Amino acid sequence: MKLEDILDVAKRRGFFWQSAAIHGSMSGFYDYAHLGTALKHRWENEWRSFFLGLDDNFWEIEPCNVLPENVFKASGHLESFVDPIAKCGKCDYTERADHLLERELKDDTFEGLSPEEFMKLMEKHKIKCPKCNGYFKEVGQLNMMFPLTVGTGSDARTAYLTPETAQGVYVNFKQEFETLRRKIPMGLAVVGKAYRNEISPRNALIRMREFTQAELQIFFDPNDVDKHEDFKSVANYKLRVFLMKNRKSKKITEVACKNMKLPKFYVYHMAMMQKFYLDVMKVPKNKFRFKELSDEEKAFYNKYHWDAEVNTNSFGWIEMGGLHFRTDHDLKGHEKVSGEKMMINHEGRVFVPNVLEISMGVDRNIYMLIDLFYKEEKERTIINFPRVFSPFDLGLFPLVNKDKLPKKAEEIKEMLKNDGLKIFYDNSGSIGRRYRRMDEIGVSLSVTVDHQTLKNNTVTIRNRDTMKQIRVKIDNLSKVIKNIINCKTDFKKAGKIVK
Ligand code: ATP
Ligand code: GLY
Repeated sequence: MKLEDILDVAKRRGFFWQSAAIHGSMSGFYDYAHLGTALKHRWENEWRSFFLGLDDNFWEIEPCNVLPENVFKASGHLESFVDPIAKCGKCDYTERADHLLERELKDDTFEGLSPEEFMKLMEKHKIKCPKCNGYFKEVGQLNMMFPLTVGTGSDARTAYLTPETAQGVYVNFKQEFETLRRKIPMGLAVVGKAYRNEISPRNALIRMREFTQAELQIFFDPNDVDKHEDFKSVANYKLRVFLMKNRKSKKITEVACKNMKLPKFYVYHMAMMQKFYLDVMKVPKNKFRFKELSDEEKAFYNKYHWDAEVNTNSFGWIEMGGLHFRTDHDLKGHEKVSGEKMMINHEGRVFVPNVLEISMGVDRNIYMLIDLFYKEEKERTIINFPRVFSPFDLGLFPLVNKDKLPKKAEEIKEMLKNDGLKIFYDNSGSIGRRYRRMDEIGVSLSVTVDHQTLKNNTVTIRNRDTMKQIRVKIDNLSKVIKNIINCKTDFKKAGKIVK
């Protein structure tokens, strides 16, 4: 499956497309359509229930996306959130210097070089402009934040659209710590927008200028970095790691958590991230890895930084998220610029908490779900999303549009809706066509109301993946559907198989 195929599927079925197309779209901006929005909400809710469920003192907040300049002075983004930008001497075409070299030299080790080092490499390898075949004349640095002016006249202040959700959390830390009764570890999560003026937005949802992040900031005592109360449960769990020393051979190794040479608090959360990918998102094991980053590749605020990557069909290995040990970098920065003390007194110990950040790009994960689970079979196309990510819980159909079946189906629809299920109702076209439609948009269960329903109050449920059907009593329908979706019951055992 290539990018073009995914863009085609996304547009035809209603997952996503370029924003403001009727006015000529700007690159790096995508709108989610009705199915994409449903899918994205599903992903976000699974993320919430998994990561907020890790600790009773983890909470979600919703800070502003527009933040004053001092926030980014404090965080270091004004100075350090820059990308290297190469400019063609002939046609003024610009591209990220590291991406350009990666593509031309088929090597991915260019992150973190200085503009001068980039320029030297471009000259050495005689890199030409992909647009006009001219040579690049300079490599500079571009700050990726979008500035804006808030207010007018003497009230005007410079602000920025936030480039990560994290800063909105740090400016709330002190107040939340007090309100949540001074407990550590404390986790504050945001599922929200981030904005970056990417030099070369590309690959649809993979590199955008406005995108969604799901991030959890965990504040903890730095003295406790080498422990986690639940570490025992993951001690023998094997992480799939792509170590720096194996960059050339591309070898992925499996290392038990207890043998990782990293602090336990960090390793425990690596295990949780991997479990989210393998157990919740059902990414095949061989398509997941944690990539160890070199000092040059780490974000400027990180002491430890490993990326969670998935091997996509369209682009190969892509970063989906990262586990960032940000130390006290951000809180100390905010303390310095604002004058507000970030020191806390926790059970008699006085310290500035350290931060472990679980950071994920929602859109990249959505793209990856479509990329991994879209299949073209002989007689149908199908997106076999894990059931919890189906844009709808079920399709519901009267077999034919007569004989009192639509009325009965409407009654069942109301019942299922009241039980909290999300339904795609369709009463037109042949039943085979309607089933195919569900396969194509990834809905995993289809319920059909037929003539037998009127006689004995049962309906059929069709399984998208096997195309097998079971017959179940209407009285049990909501429960059976929920159990199948949440993998509490095996489909075949949930009712009487229809021969
Ligand atoms: P990359 O190296 O691909 O530019 P990054 O290292 O800058 O990404 P982070 O700053 O660590 O990314 O951001 C955290 C997460 O946000 C990433 O793992 C990714 O999933 C997502 N993300 C970052 N930039 C973008 C973007 N331009 N469009 C979509 N998602 C993004
Ligand atoms: N908050 C981490 C990042 O955006 O990189």
